[in-house]
Amino acid sequence: MNILLVGSGGREHALAWKIAQSEHCDTLYCAPGNAGIAACATCVDIKDTDIDGLIAFAKDNAIDLVVVGPEAPLVAGLADALARENIRVFGPSQNAAQLEGSKAFMKDLCAKYAIPTAAYGTFSDADDAIAFIKKNGAPIVVKADGLAAGKGVIIAETKDDAIAAVHDMLSGNAFGESGHRVVIEEFMDGEELSFFALTDGKSILPLTSAQDHKRVFDGDKGPNTGGMGAYSPAHMMTPKLHDAIMETIIRPTVDGMKAEGCPFKGVLYAGIMLVGGTPKLLEYNIRFGDPECQPIMMRLESDLVDILTAVADETLENIIHQVRWSSQTALCVVMAAKGYPGSYPKNTPIGSLEQADAVDGTKTFHAGTAQDTDGQLVSVGGRVLGVTALGQTTEDAQAKAYTAVDTIDWPDGFCRRDIGWRAIKAQKAA
Ligand code: AMP
Ligand code: GLY
Repeated sequence: MNILLVGSGGREHALAWKIAQSEHCDTLYCAPGNAGIAACATCVDIKDTDIDGLIAFAKDNAIDLVVVGPEAPLVAGLADALARENIRVFGPSQNAAQLEGSKAFMKDLCAKYAIPTAAYGTFSDADDAIAFIKKNGAPIVVKADGLAAGKGVIIAETKDDAIAAVHDMLSGNAFGESGHRVVIEEFMDGEELSFFALTDGKSILPLTSAQDHKRVFDGDKGPNTGGMGAYSPAHMMTPKLHDAIMETIIRPTVDGMKAEGCPFKGVLYAGIMLVGGTPKLLEYNIRFGDPECQPIMMRLESDLVDILTAVADETLENIIHQVRWSSQTALCVVMAAKGYPGSYPKNTPIGSLEQADAVDGTKTFHAGTAQDTDGQLVSVGGRVLGVTALGQTTEDAQAKAYTAVDTIDWPDGFCRRDIGWRAIKAQKAA
């Protein structure tokens, strides 16, 4: 098969690495890719949101399967445009992508199909929103309805902070069009985990769980980021919790989307808050998590192309019982440019990645990397590398990942030193 992967982050490097190992993969292209992806795919200079450019490339290169990594092209209708050209695609339609593209859509689906989630209201009018905040009190959560690159959520400690967030969003100042409608919801206190499942619109293949580390500094301090590290499976996962998530959240979502006339095909990434042991849905993403995808791909033992093709062809039922996972834990440490998530320098040189890859049981995935004209590897983004390791325990995977991190020569980069701390603490207490 000729396969085109769309995207350029650490998630896409992990997907590319796994796709390239498939017995079905003849040629793998990645648009636009990065310096690490270039080691396992032919990178083509087409932006991930250039729908016409991607379609023209897929036609010219006899592409048999397009795998879409990020949400923006899906929300913009890339899967629909490919389907119109009879090109097989892994990723949901524009209608189905509303699960991530509109928080109001997602919350209304939950309300209609009794999926457990925080109580909420949806507002376009500031006075109504303020009345709702005054009635419910703080802490309270204010969310921009549309895509906001992971920044559209304000956890307000006071009513005044919540009201200020409403004004910022509804005026368009904070997130432009994405903030013209807001969802205001009940604050839920608990521990978070991520749960991933594939669906072809009918059948469901539960994948696995992971836990992300969103704050920039050790001990979960400092501002939110896209994710500074993740491990899989999440430490609190049990067969009982797995079944509860499948029965109360994932299955009613897949059935509800079908009933609404927009069947979901692709990966459902459920952000879940465990409240007193009960899983409640925080949000849906319609893509793999980044960095969660990196440890998940390291644990997947089956052929990824078989799985993605079965989703696209709506034959998932046939392979559900064949998918194999490593029972080990995988853990990914993100290395970011100093200054991230604020402003940071670009084009800083990175050395000795060969030594990192030589550390047994590890793989360093690239996110914001490029090669400069002299062939030197340089940073071109905020999150730059995802050093990922497999281990018998979280502690073991953590030790291996940091051994690899410590071989990397990148004076302008930094990372958290405590990825996996909740799991290690829980395992020590057990
Ligand atoms: P979201 O993009 O909706 O997942 O929100 C981003 C982050 O905000 C989540 O990962 C949670 O840590 C936090 N969050 C979102 N909604 C709530 C809520 N209702 N209660 C508590 N925390 C929340
Ligand atoms: N790591 C969080 C996300 O991918 O949205």
